[in-house]
Amino acid sequence: MALKMILGADNPILRTRSKEISSFDKKLLKLAKQMIETMHAQEGVGLAAPQIGENIRMFVMKFFQQDGEKYSIWTVINPIIIETSSDMEIDTEGCLSLPDIQGKVARYRKIILSFLNERGEKQKIKLEGLNARIAQHEIDHLDGVLFIDRMEKK
Ligand code: CO
Repeated sequence: MALKMILGADNPILRTRSKEISSFDKKLLKLAKQMIETMHAQEGVGLAAPQIGENIRMFVMKFFQQDGEKYSIWTVINPIIIETSSDMEIDTEGCLSLPDIQGKVARYRKIILSFLNERGEKQKIKLEGLNARIAQHEIDHLDGVLFIDRMEKK
């Protein structure tokens, strides 16, 4: 079942630094599943836990293949960016919590991400382009940062 979305640039839930996750139980698996269902229902490419009212460090995202169409779904817990490219890329972003806004945001073109999956297993992946952008956007959510904070001024 899809969950209710938390909306608004000034919503305190979206402006809080979320807490690390330390227990990997059935409740967490259920929440991850519901977040994936919500992301699909909203036709998003990523969804962070604060956006459904939980201030914990977890997000789900579509990890796109080279062709840009096929994707797998990742559940990312306690993410840490351990390396970034020196160059950044500017592209248009939106956010399910700010449905009426779009804007240009600069993000690192490549990142190496360390995180735990929904079973608590350690993962390390290299992300590029759109995949790297989605992860950086969602990690910002866990720190109470929204893309409008990073938007290029006209
Ligand atoms: Co967002």
